[in-house]
Amino acid sequence: MWSYYGSKSKIIDLYPSPKFDKIIEPFAGSARYALKYFDRDVLLVDKYPVIVKIWKWLQQASEKDILGLPDVNKGDDIRKISLCDGARMLIGFCINGGSVEPKNIGTDNIKRNFNSWNKDKFRISKQLYKIRHWEIKLGSYADIENQEATWFIDPPYQFGGEHYKENNEAIDFENLSDWCRSRKGQAIVCENTKADWMDFYPIREMQGSVHKTVEAIWSNYPHNFTAQQEELF
Ligand SMILES: C[S@@+](CC[C@H](N)C(=O)[O-])C[C@H]1O[C@@H](n2cnc3c(N)ncnc32)[C@H](O)[C@@H]1O
Repeated sequence: MWSYYGSKSKIIDLYPSPKFDKIIEPFAGSARYALKYFDRDVLLVDKYPVIVKIWKWLQQASEKDILGLPDVNKGDDIRKISLCDGARMLIGFCINGGSVEPKNIGTDNIKRNFNSWNKDKFRISKQLYKIRHWEIKLGSYADIENQEATWFIDPPYQFGGEHYKENNEAIDFENLSDWCRSRKGQAIVCENTKADWMDFYPIREMQGSVHKTVEAIWSNYPHNFTAQQEELF
């Protein structure tokens, strides 16, 4: 729905489709996988309260609520506009693309820090029906009951995940590796190829704001990347 640092928006179609009726995103963020398969039974969990507040606000918002939100242009300060928390946080992400937290001042429509809010609100207003039935929880991945589902596991990366408000410093990757392997059902784990806590397959080279990285995947189910040409490794 909104722009978020590390979101899977550009590569979501590369991941295997869900084999189970329930989808769990234990590190939800902007939950691109759940949005793609929105009609399943969906559970989102994130430790960052802002993320959960936005999802919950969107879940009860009407199309009219979203369309009634003001445009924000370059230099506008949204602290000067009367908004509820959920709306302010949502707009705060959309006026400053790719951020780890909502911002207050509208940016320009230039390549970096893209402000897409004035268009986003039309798109978001048309997608609200997708999330009405979702379960959305504030908490840690480790609190979720193990259950048969498709688990789309996209934690802050071991190398590169330090910028999040709830970042990689609090994650024990050895434990997380065991936790991923012990999921009932299908586990799809996202990382980049610098990570060493599971045997990840490369998927796609990505140009970040400064460096290039290679997105990678681990899954307990066979997937297309296991059939990759050897010279690409
Ligand atoms: C890489 S982002 C997820 C991006 C998401 N897949 C998307 O498409 O937008 C990782 C998320 O994990 C959350 N997080 C960090 N530690 C967590 C924990 N222990 N339990 C649950 N969520 C956590 C962060 O707040 C962040 O939103």
